[in-house]
Amino acid sequence: MIVKSESEREGMRKASRVVKAALDAAESVIRPGVTTMEVDAVVENAIRSMGATPSTKGFEGYPNASCISVNDVVVHGIPSLQTIKDGDIVSVDITALLNGYQGDAARTFAVGNVSPADLALINAAEAAFFAGIEYAKAGFKTGDIGSAVQLYTELHGYGVVRALTGHGIGHKMHESPEVPNFGKKGTGSPLKVGLCICVEPMITRGDWRVTIDRDGWTVRTADRSRAAHYENTVIITDGAPEILTL
Ligand code: MF3
Ligand code: CO
Ligand code: CO
Repeated sequence: MIVKSESEREGMRKASRVVKAALDAAESVIRPGVTTMEVDAVVENAIRSMGATPSTKGFEGYPNASCISVNDVVVHGIPSLQTIKDGDIVSVDITALLNGYQGDAARTFAVGNVSPADLALINAAEAAFFAGIEYAKAGFKTGDIGSAVQLYTELHGYGVVRALTGHGIGHKMHESPEVPNFGKKGTGSPLKVGLCICVEPMITRGDWRVTIDRDGWTVRTADRSRAAHYENTVIITDGAPEILTL
């Protein structure tokens, strides 16, 4: 667990702004008829135009600048010739490195005429994040965040994915501690002022179980229900966390 100095926090803020701008660029081009590979190219250009580099490209062999996960794909969807269609829900997850600091964030975008149930799912992922960060503050533990995310999610009838978690972040994309989206209050790692973490609920309209495609990356709901992802990089303080990727 690495607490950041004020100058390091400034580095985290700048990297996070790149990520947010790249997410906005992705959102602006997502529409029916566009391939996920085309969206990825826009993301990569946006990141590089700001002097940053896409951290996921080459990370453990991952090929692209973004993860683009459509419908029942939860996370780590690999950009491809798959065409985005009216009614799809498209999750975009971006990590960028600027001056040695990482920013990481994800959103799920609704394309055209999306069903009310899918819109509710997308909103619930965001609301679960905000329920979780009520406890993202010095004096609480990672399990307090996870427990709040799980409580919110399950109370509203959704499944919360357990196979992947949030994480610390800094010079590396993934640092300690793990930040699960489930668990028991009062357990896990203590949160300290200056710690940077990513809180990232991944929720489904069905069960929490997932499978991985033969490509070794694509994480899909086992029951093929649709899923949504909402992630921000935050700095722990004595009060409300500073959310860097809003
Ligand atoms: N952005 C992801 C996260 O939220 C990690 C990307 S996995 C990769 O932790 F394989 F695409 F690099
Ligand atoms: Co991410
Ligand atoms: Co993350």
